[in-house]
Amino acid sequence: MSKKTAAKSAPKKAAKSAAKAGGSSKSLLVENRVFKPAAEFAKKARISSMAQYKAMHAESLKHPDKFFGREAKELLWSKPFKKVLDWKCPNAKWFTGGKLNVSENCLDRHLHDSRKTKAALIWEGEPGEKRVLTYQQLHREVCRFANVLKRHKVKKGDRVIIYMPMIPEAAIAMLACTRIGAVHSVIFGGFSAESIKDRVLDSGASIIITADGGYRRGAVVPLKKNVDDALKGKDTPVKTVVVFRRTGQDVHIEEGRDVWWHRELEYVDAHCAAVAMDSESPLFILYTSGSTGKPKGILHSTGGYLLHAQMTSKYVFDLRDDDVYWCTADVGWVTGHTYMVYGPLALGATSLMYEGAPNWPENDRFWRIIEEYAVTVFYTAPTAIRAFMKWGDNWLKKHDLSSLRLLGTVGEPINPEAWMWYHNKVGGGRCPIVDTWWQTETGGHMITPLPGAVPTKPGTATLPFFGVDVGIVDDLGKEVGANEQGKLVIKKPWPSMLRGIWGDKKRYQETYWSEFKGWYFAGDGARRDKDGYIWIIGRIDDVLNVAGHRLGTAEVESALVSHPTVAEAAVVGRPDEMKGQGVVCFVTVKEGVKTSHELASELKKHVRNVIGPVATPDEVRFAAALPKTRSGKIMRRLLKQIAAGELIKGDTTTLEDINVIAQLAASGED
Ligand code: WTA
Repeated sequence: MSKKTAAKSAPKKAAKSAAKAGGSSKSLLVENRVFKPAAEFAKKARISSMAQYKAMHAESLKHPDKFFGREAKELLWSKPFKKVLDWKCPNAKWFTGGKLNVSENCLDRHLHDSRKTKAALIWEGEPGEKRVLTYQQLHREVCRFANVLKRHKVKKGDRVIIYMPMIPEAAIAMLACTRIGAVHSVIFGGFSAESIKDRVLDSGASIIITADGGYRRGAVVPLKKNVDDALKGKDTPVKTVVVFRRTGQDVHIEEGRDVWWHRELEYVDAHCAAVAMDSESPLFILYTSGSTGKPKGILHSTGGYLLHAQMTSKYVFDLRDDDVYWCTADVGWVTGHTYMVYGPLALGATSLMYEGAPNWPENDRFWRIIEEYAVTVFYTAPTAIRAFMKWGDNWLKKHDLSSLRLLGTVGEPINPEAWMWYHNKVGGGRCPIVDTWWQTETGGHMITPLPGAVPTKPGTATLPFFGVDVGIVDDLGKEVGANEQGKLVIKKPWPSMLRGIWGDKKRYQETYWSEFKGWYFAGDGARRDKDGYIWIIGRIDDVLNVAGHRLGTAEVESALVSHPTVAEAAVVGRPDEMKGQGVVCFVTVKEGVKTSHELASELKKHVRNVIGPVATPDEVRFAAALPKTRSGKIMRRLLKQIAAGELIKGDTTTLEDINVIAQLAASGED
């Protein structure tokens, strides 16, 4: 590492935390290494000192109207807003009276200067094809596809499902929806037919945009077939399926329902006026896992979301006109929404999109791409970084990564070892790392360093972004002391906060706003060190984080009990060096069913079929009974310890049948 970047970087030994929360998790270590922003980076950055960050953060909390009113002027409004914020917990309205259009902000407004011919999207397919779409070209494609949607009677407020590979058409479809005020709901390609069906029924979508297939690690994902299965024999609201030809494989075309994307374009022209939308009108729904069996449709609205997406791209990634920015997230996750599409395009930046796997055809695909396109800002997940570490440094050494100037991570806590590797090997010791904590629900970054201002420490997301008022509290809502673990809450509304759960007001109120009155409860545990830096411990609800993907234990449990042999199931996470968490299922079978390795494999497959490959269990363990309290609650704490191979700790006197513990511990599948 260079002296410039690490003024105080002499790695002192990490000392054990005095955290009362205890535990042996690496994330509870106090990390003493501090990396100051390089002077050269700071000089050019929009926020270039702690003093500036602190002053702006203080203003954003004290005078949100003034602060956000000023920032929001950087968006293009067709009608100016009257009021910055209307807040009646849990309902926030931002920029009331204002009208704007997201696609106009992401495209049209860049057509009046040199950005017109600048690359908006750079795309590489897994097999190696390359495409560049300038702002002008992207605008044209979006207008044409918006006209296709109109041709199929999609109107303002209608829901549109997008189930696509990582190709420019995914972004085109999203932007086309926003152009006419339709509400998109993107489904990650790793979800199954059943998951699509649930989302179609819940959202009431009338149209699905998909492709014949997509490429992943050399194989073809049968997207269209999954859509066919989802719609089979079911009375669904879907009237139209638009199919983009990506792989050229044979697909079934249902007469009267399915149409080809390229054929549809023949009927439309490239003029489509952007509809001026109320700032609070719904923009998209994105389904995510919660603590019940049913995923929740997180609803985001227009003005506040776009402002936060643009603002964080500006201050956190510090994106410039000459940057080549690459976010590796799939468009099916919120990171793909905010930081591959809306944030960078609102800012007029160049966003790179890659279709496939990082290890196809070889383990250096990402480094190859960085070198080839001279990527300057790179945003990925800790789980990917750990995989790269495992594959070894030699893959990096073959490539010139000197174009990189800033690195980012998202999705799960990053262990200091991975952070250091990222810093030294990928960033060459010169690039700041922004470890960004946020959620589907928050719409954009919430806790993150600003790279030109905030010194970083490996493993912490550091300090709150503008407008974000973080609390780390005990069960009664009292702030916990330094280095004590508590519950992470947000005490004030912020522009890109979720506006609800689609079709379920009560669940919205109960999930996020009931634990502490007036505060948003994130579902994460965290602690604050003596410098005020926030260390995210991870989920403390029944949500797992597997390779940076959210998965509800109840969702997997409900998939398991839908199998005819299963009587009862309990699913827990166990620490996993690569994926952060692995999925372990404890299963009791019905009377007369014989347990076997085959049945364990069959159950894994079943979960995969019901939810999708993204939820494949790591282990299925059979048990005669599940450990329960006298009141019948499954003792997950014990199951977690058993799954992790730890000795059983704590008080077990409330167990209904203490013998089951021993049986479970000895019941490993292998
Ligand atoms: C976790 C992803 C530690 C956290 C944008 C959160 C993180 C969940 C970080 C949301 C981070 C995300 N450090 N943990 N930098 N970023 N998380 O909705 O547990 O897919 O609650 O949004 O990921 O996952 P989601």
